[in-house]
Amino acid sequence: MVEVENLSVRYRGRYALEAISFKLEPSQIVGIIGPNGAGKSTMVKAMLGLIPIASGTVKFCDKPLRLNLSKVAYVPQRANIDWDYPTTVWNVVMMARTVKTGLFRKPSRMSEELAKAALERVGILDLRDRQIGELSGGQQQRVFLARSLAKQADLFIFDEPFTGIDRRTEDIIFEVFEELKVQGKTLLVINHDLGETLNYYDQLLLLNKQLIAFGCRQEVLTATNIQQTYGISLRLVVA
Ligand SMILES: Nc1ncnc2c1ncn2[C@@H]1O[C@H](COP(=O)(O)OP(=O)(O)OP(=O)(O)O)[C@@H](O)[C@H]1O
Ligand SMILES: [Mg+2]
Repeated sequence: MVEVENLSVRYRGRYALEAISFKLEPSQIVGIIGPNGAGKSTMVKAMLGLIPIASGTVKFCDKPLRLNLSKVAYVPQRANIDWDYPTTVWNVVMMARTVKTGLFRKPSRMSEELAKAALERVGILDLRDRQIGELSGGQQQRVFLARSLAKQADLFIFDEPFTGIDRRTEDIIFEVFEELKVQGKTLLVINHDLGETLNYYDQLLLLNKQLIAFGCRQEVLTATNIQQTYGISLRLVVA
């Protein structure tokens, strides 16, 4: 479904990502793990065509992914979103429908129903008229989760959705991920924390500039791989 081949990115002449290749199948939750600066955000941005690449191809259903974004939902790292931008929860979620509606046309009843259902699913419909800057970290993350649901995508990419949120929001996010998986969707999730949350993933992709390992937890979380990527022992990770 998604095929990344030989993907490399350079910033100012230095490689941030080197020759990454992997494939994603439907009905999978794939976790990307690696330390700060490993190139995790760079990799998803390069896949989406948001930054220039030095080499490689990224295909989604046999077409270049960057030209096929109508079925892709992307939630950027929360720290990179401008929370002072004056807009409401409702307007953020309705952005998911702009492609279908057009920028200046009135949204259809269906788009409004989808946005409402998405906000209801993540438990923040009552916040629909609030400014996004006024929300807690967990509520902000739920707004963007709702936006991704309203898009009715087939591929979902989340950049560190679990950073700075409460336990309840974490539970909701994992429940929604599971529902999307059952519906046959593909989920690619950057997860900075190593620890018990890794159990939720069907596959893990261990990254540190290069792809260190990709596969099921047991294959990926070996002492050698963890040492190579983080410089710490496995015992600290899965204890
Ligand atoms: N726009 C940019 N220009 C120059 N260098 C950049 C740029 N964006 C990222 N980098 C560098 O590329 C490397 C990878 O950054 P990236 O943000 O992809 O890492 P990450 O794995 O997402 O880290 P984190 O866990 O902190 O989010 C880092 O060394 C970073 O400093
Ligand atoms: Mg990042």
